[in-house]
Amino acid sequence: MSDKILEISGLSKTYPDGTEALKNVSLNVKRGERVVILGLSGAGKSTFLRCINRLVKPDTGTIKFKPDNDSKTYEMANLADYRLSEPRSRIGMIFQQFNLVDRLTVIKNVLTGGLSRYGTLSSLFHIFPPSEVARAKSCIERVELTERMYVRAADLSGGQKQRVGIARALMQSPSLMLADEPVASLDPATSKIILDVLARVTEEDNITTLINLHSIEFARGFANLVIAFKNGELVFDGAMSELDDGRLDAIYSSKR
Ligand SMILES: Nc1ncnc2c1ncn2[C@@H]1O[C@H](COP(=O)(O)OP(=O)(O)OP(=O)(O)O)[C@@H](O)[C@H]1O
Ligand SMILES: [Mg+2]
Repeated sequence: MSDKILEISGLSKTYPDGTEALKNVSLNVKRGERVVILGLSGAGKSTFLRCINRLVKPDTGTIKFKPDNDSKTYEMANLADYRLSEPRSRIGMIFQQFNLVDRLTVIKNVLTGGLSRYGTLSSLFHIFPPSEVARAKSCIERVELTERMYVRAADLSGGQKQRVGIARALMQSPSLMLADEPVASLDPATSKIILDVLARVTEEDNITTLINLHSIEFARGFANLVIAFKNGELVFDGAMSELDDGRLDAIYSSKR
């Protein structure tokens, strides 16, 4: 799977209450692609993203994740819990609600992105090696937030908070970035800017990106590939250029 970063086969997830969130989903993602995930609310988009880094444990199926061309392949769906930290350290995640620690400064929030590299003492006492601090500063610079580096996260605007979210993810040197509606809490103008930042940094670092978006316009601007879910089934997997009105109607119609 050398040119593929993800090989997903027969993935299914039913929640304990009986909701079938994913039904037998199979797809491959090539290294360096930008993939947008579309579908109605409840279609399974978040569940799909969360299975990839095992925030959700799928019931059946396999998720082969090969972070780099020369790295080993991890089978995320069935990996023992205690072995997840290694592959997870190469998967950045960005959230709609930013998931920052409000009382900490921008730079401390970004430094937490590298915690898997420097362990418990750093995380308990917030003491970080100088090399990591330099790295965090460079990640902050890349999202154009240098002037706000020592401001508490609570005192930032939404757009600035998501810049911190992106910088924190970059701190991990991810090869894969998962973004679950990263701009759903932002106004349209800010959303566009944040998606541009995300596109730029992931392009620069050749980070493969899977992103859930509700706006087709933003999706077209961001991604070259589209996958779409409907009632837990994968109903489209192709180029953005193939996503015509008829296909969009089928994805977003409430009919099964
Ligand atoms: N923890 C959970 N327990 C039970 N059901 C869940 C859980 N998480 C999600 N679901 C259900 O699984 C289905 C898929 O949910 P999911 O969050 O993946 O959808 P989504 O496409 O991300 O929707 P949205 O666009 O609203 O974020 C929905 O019916 C949802 O109610
Ligand atoms: Mg969701």
